[in-house]
Amino acid sequence: MKKETTQHNEERWPEEVSQEKALLNRREFIFLSSLAAAGLAAAPYVLTACDQRDPIPLSEYTEIQLVINEKEMKMKIDPRTSLLDLLREQLGLTGTKKGCNQGACGACTVHLDGMRVNSCLTLAVQADGLQVTTIEGIGTDDEFHPVQGAFLAHDGYQCGYCTSGQIMSAIMVLKENHADTREEIQEWMSGNLCRCGAYKGIVAAVEAVRDNAVPKELLVRKTS
Ligand code: FES
Ligand code: FES
Repeated sequence: MKKETTQHNEERWPEEVSQEKALLNRREFIFLSSLAAAGLAAAPYVLTACDQRDPIPLSEYTEIQLVINEKEMKMKIDPRTSLLDLLREQLGLTGTKKGCNQGACGACTVHLDGMRVNSCLTLAVQADGLQVTTIEGIGTDDEFHPVQGAFLAHDGYQCGYCTSGQIMSAIMVLKENHADTREEIQEWMSGNLCRCGAYKGIVAAVEAVRDNAVPKELLVRKTS
């Protein structure tokens, strides 16, 4: 059997190439399905957001103006840029994490005009004219947000990779009054996955904020 040459000039057996293509098609299918579920698939430019390998001319960049963590910003961006990539790659706000990059894990959760969104599935141009809050924008210079303090008090994390997304979701779950019972918290936090399985601590942290039971000393930001 003759080997095939891939687009990267590597020699592979035909079986390997077809397995790789099947895997890519499956990923593409999951990605497009999640866009459809989010009601975004109708916008043709959204479908190209997953492939930013081909640069476009600067003349095709789009100007957006938005408020990020209370700072007004104006910039020109490639219209295919996700909000997540804008925050992390272009603005250095790396507290927001990239997990699956396809809407399945919640690690990239931020607030957009008071609603929680998966920033990996949100185009930066969709945030034009809106307020974005990331994990860097909660609390104050002197104090953590109560949800941050509660995560500390109840070990709501292990590796910490999912934690900023969990905290941003937990803040909204509390604001939305969806934290009356443990089951309700689990249901409304179900879009945020934790591979370390710190769910018990996460739910306890949300309950603690709901019950106003976060030790004040845990809220103090230590600068040294
Ligand atoms: S990185 Fe956005 S949902 Fe997983
Ligand atoms: S603390 Fe590790 S993934 Fe949640």
